[in-house]
Amino acid sequence: MELHYTEAGEGVPLVLIHGFPLDHALWQPQLEGLSRVARMVAPDLRGFGKSPQASGVVSMEDHAGDVVELLDRLNIGEAVVCGLSMGGYVALAIAELFPRVVKGLILCNTRSVADDGPARRMREITALRALEGGTAEMVPGMVTKLLGPHSAKAVSRSINLVSDMLLRQPATGWAASSRGMAERPDRTPLLSNLRIPALVITGRDDALIPPAESETMTAHLPKGRLVVIPRVGHLTNLEAPEAFNRVVKEFLATAC
Ligand code: MLT
Repeated sequence: MELHYTEAGEGVPLVLIHGFPLDHALWQPQLEGLSRVARMVAPDLRGFGKSPQASGVVSMEDHAGDVVELLDRLNIGEAVVCGLSMGGYVALAIAELFPRVVKGLILCNTRSVADDGPARRMREITALRALEGGTAEMVPGMVTKLLGPHSAKAVSRSINLVSDMLLRQPATGWAASSRGMAERPDRTPLLSNLRIPALVITGRDDALIPPAESETMTAHLPKGRLVVIPRVGHLTNLEAPEAFNRVVKEFLATAC
C-alpha cells in the first residue's frame, strides 16, 4: 500500500503517525518546529488524507506494515517512531513486528491495553454510523473530546482545524480503522522487553485516554520517561506545540 506522506527537516529520522480519524496535518506544528533537528516523515494512514481508500477492516498491524513499507521506500533503515493515540497503537505494532526499524519510541496520548467489550461495541457503532449516516454528525462531539477544555475555549482556530480534518476523512477510513482498533491485542507485555529509549507524553486533561494509563505504560518501559503537559487534552502536539517540541528535541538529543 503506497501511503501519501509529507516530509520536512534534516537530522534524526522521525516518523509521525497520526491518530483517529485524522491525517498528517495533525503534525504541522512539528513539521515546522522540529525541522532543524529531525528528518520527519508524516504519512496519511490507509483510508485517511490522500492515501488510498480503505475497505473492510484495517488492523493496527496493517497500518504498521504500510508505514514500514514507506520507510523502506525512503531508504530509512531506522527511525524514532512517534504516534499519537491510534498512531501509538500503530507505533507499538511496529515495535513488536518490525523492531529493526525502531531507534526510539514516542508514545503520545495512547495506551498499550486492548479494548474491553463495551469499547469494542462502541467501535462497531462508530463504524456503522459512519458508513450508513456519514461522519458529519459525529464530528462536533468528537472535537470536544479531542481538545482539552482550555484549548477549546482559548483557540477557536484549533477547533476549526481539527473539525476540518475530521470532516475530510472518508467514512470508509473511519469504519475500517475503528474496526481495526477493536481487534488490537494487549501490547502491555511487549513494553518490558523494549530496550530502546521511550518517551511517553500526555495532557493532564486528556478526556479520551486518562494520564493514569500513560503512567502505567511508562512504569513497564525499562527506558521510559513520562511528561504530562498541563492544561492540555488529547492532542498534546497541537494544543501545546512549544512544550511538546521542547521535550521531543531534548529526547532526540539525549536519548537517540
Ligand atoms: C485517537 O485519537 O486516535 C483515538 O481516540 C484512539 C481511540 O479511539 O482509541
